[in-house]
Amino acid sequence: MTETTRGRPIAIQMTVNSVPRAANVEPRTLLVHFLRETLGLTGTHIGCDTTQCGACTIHLDGRAVKSCTILAAQAQGGDLTTIEGLADADGLHPVQEGFRQEHGLQCGYCTPGMIMNAANLLHRNPHPTEDEIKHALQGNLCRCTGYVNIVRAVQWAAAQPGGSSVSG
Ligand code: FES
Ligand code: FES
Repeated sequence: MTETTRGRPIAIQMTVNSVPRAANVEPRTLLVHFLRETLGLTGTHIGCDTTQCGACTIHLDGRAVKSCTILAAQAQGGDLTTIEGLADADGLHPVQEGFRQEHGLQCGYCTPGMIMNAANLLHRNPHPTEDEIKHALQGNLCRCTGYVNIVRAVQWAAAQPGGSSVSG
């Protein structure tokens, strides 16, 4: 493969927050850069370059994934949700509301990734134990909170009537 071939833009299309999106991207473009720079969805954060922080977590075809670990081209045809698409016409997602009720954030940098991962956890496991919450969020780092209120926020969401049945 020549240098020219490696850099040739490729056409991709996917659904992001229920909206069909299409673009030409370089094959090396990371999904997180595509979301932030091409689509302008800057709620998905970048907190590291080592796949450790989880600030870039989104949902891809029903799974929580770190969007810095995936090429945009690998999401071709996918169904994506970012933090901008988590709330619906009825208001905040229960996990978002839980973070507000339980003061689950300070600077907020880790928060979009935390919320996306926690929402996916509750979708898979509506009533997780405290240990299951901690285990699910172990790939999301927070420099501020000490995690206690983050766990409480997820527990708050899980305790809402129908709260954990919201897709995520
Ligand atoms: Fe993706 Fe840190 S930016 S894990
Ligand atoms: Fe600041 Fe988590 S609230 S990094």
